Amino acid sequence: MTDTQFIPKSYSKNLDNGQVSWQSPSNIALVKYWGKYGEQLPKNASISFTLSNCNTKTSLRFKKKSTSESFTFQVFLDGKREESFEPKIQKFFERIEAYIPFLKAYQFTIETSNSFPHSSGIASSASGMSALALCLVSMEQQMSASENTKEYYSQKASFLARLGSGSACRSIEGDLIVWGKHPDIEGSSNLFGVKYPYTVHANFKNYQDTILLVDKGEKQVSSTVGHDLMHNHPFAEQRFEQANNNLSQLLPILESGDLSAFIKIVESEALSLHAMMMTSMPYFILMKPNTLEIINRIWEYRAKTKSNICFTLDAGANVHVLYPETEKETVALFIEKELSSFCKNGEFISDVAGFGAISI
Ligand code: DP6
Repeated sequence: MTDTQFIPKSYSKNLDNGQVSWQSPSNIALVKYWGKYGEQLPKNASISFTLSNCNTKTSLRFKKKSTSESFTFQVFLDGKREESFEPKIQKFFERIEAYIPFLKAYQFTIETSNSFPHSSGIASSASGMSALALCLVSMEQQMSASENTKEYYSQKASFLARLGSGSACRSIEGDLIVWGKHPDIEGSSNLFGVKYPYTVHANFKNYQDTILLVDKGEKQVSSTVGHDLMHNHPFAEQRFEQANNNLSQLLPILESGDLSAFIKIVESEALSLHAMMMTSMPYFILMKPNTLEIINRIWEYRAKTKSNICFTLDAGANVHVLYPETEKETVALFIEKELSSFCKNGEFISDVAGFGAISI
């Protein structure tokens, strides 16, 4: 399937005005996407758990305009105009215009709110961009006779979300999503995320993710800049190969439910991602002292109790604590007693693998 697949031929219905709304979740990668080429295409394949509780609700109100020379839109966060979001949306609209040709014909009001505090350090780009992409696809669906399948629209939403933020393409469905062409995964594509197509052991059902909010400030280095530093990075090629190998190794693990093998890959991926940041030029560190404190406590607890708890990191200082549902009560006690003191204001968010976005 190529990009032209998502260019609509024509629309059969006229829409003057209306509103569409979606709630879309964040996701946490097990094998990380770090490094891209062309127009938001990943240098290696990645896989993530879609989350549930960390999500963005977006309503898109639209009204036909008399002229169609430029994009007309305003963004509101929690009811307040948020002009700082607008350049990113402008860029997104420019990238997707070929696939959503009616963008300049409407005046849009985008109203968005996150279930997590904006200052939590949790990136809202995956949930936010996927929610907006879904709203646009819903609009398109209303303008079209029912010639396209549900699968087509969901793939198109993922394809568009990718052009807003790479990892956003893994937030449309759940609970395990692969993005990036991988020889071992049938149907995988660089253009959009696909549901993991093979058997998954019960150990990985309702996998828990408690997000420890270590640092709630703005990151010193954005993901976009970080990705860019993978060009001419001395270890880039090895890293892309390592990620693809890790994904290959994960397949039999997901099937057999081998949690200790799972932990090794997931933690190694998190540290490899941060190792890439530390060995970029210019180099940077997103972890904070408490990130390392937490990692060490997790390792001690695991050694002492034989728990299957592990950690992963995204591009920031917060720690995602991952564990099977069967350990929910015991790990909750451990987090409350031993880890929460390393979080800003003792704050953390309890989340669980979920099944993707919903129309609201
Ligand atoms: C570390 O998707 O935020 O979370 O495509 O530039 O918007 P852009 O980057 P983004 O990068 C996410 C990187 C990551 C790993 C991952 O989610 O796979």
